[in-house]
Amino acid sequence: MELNLFDKQVYVNRRQTLKQNIGNDGLILLLGNEDSSMNYKDNCYPFRQDSNFLYYFGLDVPTLAAIIDTDTGEEVVFGNELSIDDIIWTGILPTVSEMAALAGVAKTNAYNQITHYVHKAITNGRKVHILPPYRPENKVKLSAWLNVSIQDIADHVSVKLIKAVIAQRVIKSPLEVEQMENAVSISVDMQLAVIKHTRPGIKEYELVAKAHEVAIAANARLGYPAIITTHGQTLHTHYYGNTLQEGRMVLADIGAENAMHYGGDLTRTVPVGRSFTTRQKELYEVVLNSMDHAISMLKPGVQYKEIHLQACQKLVEGLTAVNIMKGEAAEAIAAGAHTMFFQCGLGHMLGMDTHDMEDLGEQYVGYTDTLKKETVFGLKSLRLGRELEAGYVLTIEPGIYIIPELIDRWQAENKYADFINYDVLNTYRDFGGIRIEDNFLITDTGSQLLGKYLPKTLKEIEALKG
Ligand code: GLY
Ligand code: MN
Ligand code: MN
Repeated sequence: MELNLFDKQVYVNRRQTLKQNIGNDGLILLLGNEDSSMNYKDNCYPFRQDSNFLYYFGLDVPTLAAIIDTDTGEEVVFGNELSIDDIIWTGILPTVSEMAALAGVAKTNAYNQITHYVHKAITNGRKVHILPPYRPENKVKLSAWLNVSIQDIADHVSVKLIKAVIAQRVIKSPLEVEQMENAVSISVDMQLAVIKHTRPGIKEYELVAKAHEVAIAANARLGYPAIITTHGQTLHTHYYGNTLQEGRMVLADIGAENAMHYGGDLTRTVPVGRSFTTRQKELYEVVLNSMDHAISMLKPGVQYKEIHLQACQKLVEGLTAVNIMKGEAAEAIAAGAHTMFFQCGLGHMLGMDTHDMEDLGEQYVGYTDTLKKETVFGLKSLRLGRELEAGYVLTIEPGIYIIPELIDRWQAENKYADFINYDVLNTYRDFGGIRIEDNFLITDTGSQLLGKYLPKTLKEIEALKG
C-alpha cells in the first residue's frame, strides 16, 4: 500500500509554524482517528483520517497519534506495528518509524505509551494542549489519559491550540489550492454526469450512483453524503427514493474528496425534462442574480456577513418582483422575513472538511473575538461571518427553499404578513427549492473560481439537457 503525502518538508514546516505560534507552553497532543465499526466489530465505516492530523503529519492510517513538545521541540509519532494477523487480513504497511519518517519525524513509540507522556507532563505541571474530540473513540481515550469524565473534556480543550491551528489551515497554500482545483474539477464532472442522466421516470438513487461512479473512477470519493433530490426545499435530505417527473426540478449538492482529502462542494438545480417552466426560470434568475452579486463582492477586507446580507437583499428584491414578497427589502431583511425562503447561510469555509474545521468550533472558524455568531433563525446558520483574507477558500450558495410546513406555521401565526403575500406564496407550495453553489479562492484583489467552469445560467443548463 502506498501512502499519499506531500513532501515531508511541508509537514516539518507546518509543525514548526505551529510550535512558534504556541511558544514554550507544554505538549501538543494530536490524535488521528481509528477504524470505527459499522454494525459489527470487523465491518467498519470507510476510514477517514482526522484533518488536523493529516495537516500536520499527512499519515492516512488508522490508530496513530503524535505529540509535539513545544519546550524541547521533541516530536513523537505513536502507533502499533502490524501483527501477522493484520498482515494476513489487510496487507502490509510501512513500519511506524518508516511512516513517521515520511512526515519528517524521527522518534516513534508504541500507541499505549501516550499515557506515559501525558501523565508525566501533567505531574510536572505542564500543559497538554488538545483539540475538541468529535469521535467517541477519541473521547474515551482522552477521558482516560487526562483522568476526566467525557463530559468534562470540553473544559480541557485548548483554545490557544484551536486558534493556532485555524490560523494556519484557513490560509490555503498554493499546494493546497492545486489539490482543491483537482477536487472541484472532479466535482464538476460528477455534476455533469448527474445533469446529463437526469430525465423523467428514473429514481433519484440512479443519479446518486452516477455521482459515485465518477468520483471513484477519479480515485476520489464523496466528501459528504450526496443531496440529490426533487424536493430541493429540504436543505440536507438524504432520501433518494423519489421518481423524477417532468415539470419538476432536481437539486444536486455533491462534492468529491480527492486522494489527498481536499474537497469540492457544488450545487446545481436543473429541470427533470429539457427545460425549466416559466416559474422555475423566474426564481432561478433570482437565485443566480443573488449569487453573482455575492461573487462580485468577494475580496480581502470585506465581511462575509455583509455579503450574506447583500445576497439576501437580492433574493428579497427578486421575490418582490414576482409578488411573493412585498414592502421594503431592507426592512424585510431586518425583520427576518427572508428566512421564509432562505433559512440558512450563504456559505462556509472549504478545505479538507466540507465545512472546513468545524470540529474546532464554528465561532472560531467563521467569527472572531469581536464578531460573534448570532442566534436568531437564519443568521444562526451562517457559518462564516468574518472579514475575508487572501488564501481563504469558501462557498457561495444562495437559494430559495419553499417549505410548505413553514408556510403553514408562519401563516397561522400571521408572521411577517407585512412582507409576505401568503396568497401568492401558497400557489408555489409544490415548487421545491433552488440552490446554486460554487467554490472560490480569495485572492489579493478579488476571487478566483475553483475548478473547471460548471454551467449555471438557464441557457447553459438547458443546452446541457438538450
Ligand atoms: N453540502 C453541504 C453544504 O453545502 O453546506
Ligand atoms: Mn456548501
Ligand atoms: Mn453543498
